[in-house]
Amino acid sequence: MTTPLELQSLAVEIAREAGALAALRRREGVRVAATKSALADIVTDADREVEDLIRARLAAARPGDGFLGEESGAGTSTSGITWVVDPIDGTVNYAYGVPAYAVSIAAVEGPADPAEWTALAGAVFNPAIDELFAAARGEGAWLASAIEGERRLAVAEPSPAGALVGTGFGYDPATHAGDIARLSTVMPLARDIRRIGAASLDLTGVAAGRLDAYYERGLHPWDHAAGALIIEEAGGRVGGYAGKRPGRAMTIAAAPLFFERLTEVVSG
Ligand code: IPD
Ligand code: CA
Repeated sequence: MTTPLELQSLAVEIAREAGALAALRRREGVRVAATKSALADIVTDADREVEDLIRARLAAARPGDGFLGEESGAGTSTSGITWVVDPIDGTVNYAYGVPAYAVSIAAVEGPADPAEWTALAGAVFNPAIDELFAAARGEGAWLASAIEGERRLAVAEPSPAGALVGTGFGYDPATHAGDIARLSTVMPLARDIRRIGAASLDLTGVAAGRLDAYYERGLHPWDHAAGALIIEEAGGRVGGYAGKRPGRAMTIAAAPLFFERLTEVVSG
């Protein structure tokens, strides 16, 4: 039987290699290969190349596992474990040269559906500033940072000054008015808002105490699979609308007490 810690070390090793490739391609110059759901939703050559690398490494190490990746779709699992992968989360930051993008790799057990799976291990690596977030179920969450060194992560409730809240807006212009209306209901709880541009870094930001909370509509499974486990292992909560699992409709993350308040406001 493979342990969550073994899956975590594989996720970490591959995330570091994939991140180094993404950073190298970034230095060489980024080419937008195509647009996807909307003109603003882009994929670069590097997104595809990095996902191919991750998929090949996982297939070599664990041939029976399934795969669910943003750029190359799904592969079925015979082992019960599926790898959920975003090769570059924060692709628009990546294309603009904003150093907030990450490789996100999670190992989940059960159906390849965030409403049903159990995440076992996850790694989120931002190669631009050499920061690696990792967690294994039941083993805690950790940050290894070139700036901060290594530390175990623990979420914190916001101070009386209000919560520093991260959020995001999907690529589809038709959803922007609804997202902005929701933001105006959250503002009274917030000391300020951040739009970092990479869901995995928003989630790990909550785990690391760099944000007090995060919510976003429209996330895909690969955007939150690893980050959600990292928050839970840091003592935080992640969910969707009113008691549901995190997913496309809504993802909310915070320390336990503020999670309840934010869920009420966002679901209301
Ligand atoms: C996107 C980023 C962004 C979020 C979008 C995601 P991508 O992922 O995480 O912050 O607002 O919903 O799709 O396209 O950069 O991998
Ligand atoms: Ca992506």
